[in-house]
Amino acid sequence: MSTKKPGYYCQECGHFTARWMGRCSGCGAWNTYVEEVVASPRNHRSIERQVEPRPLIEVPLVDSDRRSTGMAELDRVLGGGVVPGSLILLGGDPGIGKSTLLLQVAGAIGSAGHRVLYVSGEESPHQIKLRADRLGVNSDELYVYPQTNLEAVEEQVAKVNPLLIVVDSIQTMYISDITSAPGSVSQVRGCTARLMQWAKKQSVSVFVVGHVTKEGMIAGPRVMEHMVDVVLYFEGERHQTFRILRGVKNRFGSTNEIGVFEMSGIGLQEVANPSSFFLMDHAFRNVAGTVVVPTMEGTRPLLVEIQALVCPTSFGTPRRMTAGVDHNRVALIMAVLEKRLGLMLGNCDAYVNVVGGVRIDEPAADLGIAMALASSFRERAIDGRVVVMGELGLTGEIRPVTALDKRISQAAQLGFGCCIVPRQKGLPEIGELETKEVATLAEAFDLVF
Ligand SMILES: Nc1ncnc2c1ncn2[C@@H]1O[C@H](COP(=O)(O)OP(=O)(O)OP(=O)(O)O)[C@@H](O)[C@H]1O
Ligand SMILES: [Mg+2]
Ligand SMILES: [Zn+2]
Repeated sequence: MSTKKPGYYCQECGHFTARWMGRCSGCGAWNTYVEEVVASPRNHRSIERQVEPRPLIEVPLVDSDRRSTGMAELDRVLGGGVVPGSLILLGGDPGIGKSTLLLQVAGAIGSAGHRVLYVSGEESPHQIKLRADRLGVNSDELYVYPQTNLEAVEEQVAKVNPLLIVVDSIQTMYISDITSAPGSVSQVRGCTARLMQWAKKQSVSVFVVGHVTKEGMIAGPRVMEHMVDVVLYFEGERHQTFRILRGVKNRFGSTNEIGVFEMSGIGLQEVANPSSFFLMDHAFRNVAGTVVVPTMEGTRPLLVEIQALVCPTSFGTPRRMTAGVDHNRVALIMAVLEKRLGLMLGNCDAYVNVVGGVRIDEPAADLGIAMALASSFRERAIDGRVVVMGELGLTGEIRPVTALDKRISQAAQLGFGCCIVPRQKGLPEIGELETKEVATLAEAFDLVF
């Protein structure tokens, strides 16, 4: 059997070609093919022979004893804790706090009396110590190991026998069988496959840091995302202190939960009630062009403020800019406003922003966006104690939203006085909060303005 397979791999998407080409036929990127020689793993066959098919009912049910990471927000995103033997990829922009998060997790698990091996290919033990000192991480079960060779790590894993391994980062790791440089497609793929094998064989959980490119992809092959069990993205605005942890893929839980953290001098703090955090400086102001919308992030309601600014175009084509909401969705809402309510937005610039850098991608925010735009256009403030929700149809009808009761009760908790909701069955009764039902955009406007 031949073990060498020479060829060219696209460094962006992992596409393989036997002949060099200028442009990747997988992703269209230019000049990204690099020659790599891949030795296919030799010892696979013997391992594969040891395992035999068996009836599923005979497989013992190991009750999924998920381990808490010591951070409730992270546990929530993972679906209730770390499943033993899982490989978790943590991606994120440079400097967003990936190493900080994992060092805190390593510290918490170490303090719980479990051994943790923190492998760093990027920082020296002194640098890690400095950070650990700042974060208050102090556990005698936490081992740090500066190493970039994965085979050496494997040896140490056998000696240290940890319950959790942190690898920071996959782009710095290499296997000596593979000739290409660390960070290249075949190295990243090879190392991930190797980590996956350990994780499954020894039932040890592995957290792997992956750097993210400008385009927002895990640098190196996209295929890595298919190989691991869980993919988490750590994101946030560079100039703000809050960070959002999002599940992109999870073999052991749902992916629509988010975790919210705040970056501080002593590390990442969990934000247990994100709504109050994002609305911190809203304070029920009565200003034109702003409205609060309850959105759902997974099973948790999140109240965010949507702001809009509409002003006449001075020359040329009107500008439309959005941050945190879909550009096309805003164009659609503006068209509905123009057609159904006669607001002449056609020759106005429009800017829509979600405060705090949150991203909303559910249609339940449509009515809020419409209200904010109209409020700015008419220079009329919406009462600061009102929240609105509803999906907008092309004929100007307001459609029902999911999880209405959770949204309303969250608004009530935060002291809002009135909810404008779509007319729908099973409207919950929530204490002192007034709910007003609307069926069309026009009705909603009559109520608000
Ligand atoms: N003394 C400090 N006080 C407050 N925040 C700090 C301090 N030192 C570092 N930080 C924060 O921690 C961030 C760096 O965190 P960390 O090194 O965990 O990021 P990372 O995602 O691992 O980065 P990289 O991609 O470079 O590995 C900085 O951007 C900064 O916000
Ligand atoms: Mg780091
Ligand atoms: Zn490509």
